[in-house]
Amino acid sequence: PNADSTRGKLLSVYEKAEHFYHHVLVNTKAGEAAYQYLLDRGMTEESIDTFKIGFSPPQREALKMYLENEGLSEAEILKKTGLFSDRDDDTFYDRFTNRILFPIKDDKGHTVAFSGRAFMDNEDGQIRTAKYMNSPETELFNKRRVLFNYDKARPVIRREGEVLLFEGFMDVISAWQAGVRNGLATMGTSLTEEQVHTLDKVTDHVVIAYDGDSAGLDAIKRATDFITNETHFSIEIAAFPEKMDPDDFIQKKGAEAFKDFLAHGRDTLMSFLMKYHKKEVNLNNESDRLKYIDTVLNELTRVTSAVEREMYLNQLAETFDLSTESLKEQMHGHIIENQ
Ligand code: GTP
Ligand code: MN
Ligand code: MN
Ligand code: MN
Ligand code: MN
Repeated sequence: PNADSTRGKLLSVYEKAEHFYHHVLVNTKAGEAAYQYLLDRGMTEESIDTFKIGFSPPQREALKMYLENEGLSEAEILKKTGLFSDRDDDTFYDRFTNRILFPIKDDKGHTVAFSGRAFMDNEDGQIRTAKYMNSPETELFNKRRVLFNYDKARPVIRREGEVLLFEGFMDVISAWQAGVRNGLATMGTSLTEEQVHTLDKVTDHVVIAYDGDSAGLDAIKRATDFITNETHFSIEIAAFPEKMDPDDFIQKKGAEAFKDFLAHGRDTLMSFLMKYHKKEVNLNNESDRLKYIDTVLNELTRVTSAVEREMYLNQLAETFDLSTESLKEQMHGHIIENQ
């Protein structure tokens, strides 16, 4: 980009800001505790360097002063970066203070925003503000478009023929450390059409690897509905056990167990849905049982492969001691309804 254009100037500010925050984390007293926190969580020095993780110090004019020294002090540009508080007067207080910063990159690897994780510095270890805070949307940053780690993961996604979707940045980084490098995360939002469009250019196979808690399972359900309605992607689900997120799983069970789970612990869309809908019912109750069977038959209409349909129809027939014919008939009822 042209260094004199607004876009070029904004990019230089983010580049300098990334350098500054990273330096504070790695080399200064102000960043020491946050650095130790990351190491204690299992993040390696190599990852901290690869992802250029940073720390925003508590002083509210630190970034401003640094940028001034670097010859970047044009007020109109600084305002547009979103890195300073949006007061109307001409003070420039850093938006991020006391946060661990994750640079957010566009698809060419240029930093266009930051997400800051609150750092547990209270005596009781509690976080009292939003756990994560993103910089606001700007000319360069649209959170509906950006996918964390897309710039680095893209060639790996092509090579592996699939993309892994995580909920959190920490999951992406832990997976990366474990050697699983085709992972991405959204900016804390659900998957959007714009993101699907981006993914569509590199793969047709999505593996959803969200958190194993109840919010995560609901998010998986929503993502699968969205993906099957809007795209032709094939989906698999890696639902992590015992309320763990992928990062927890890796820290607790190790990289090999993680890769093993990704290779052999996946559910097909239907087997995930069959487990998911069990949460809503008590299968010992007759009316719940009927409701469950009907819900699953309705979901089954989304499966286009005749063989796959037959497989699940047989499974249902066996589990509930019914004939495949009656199940098929009821499923066809849903197909007509859904047309
Ligand atoms: P750790 O607690 O550090 O392991 O983070 P996590 O990635 O496990 O966080 P969590 O599962 O709670 O959230 C997943 C993702 O949702 C994060 O990476 C953020 O992108 C986003 N997120 C979480 N909390 C907030 C919040 O308070 N505000 C916003 N804007 N996003 C959030
Ligand atoms: Mn494929
Ligand atoms: Mn979560
Ligand atoms: Mn999580
Ligand atoms: Mn986590």
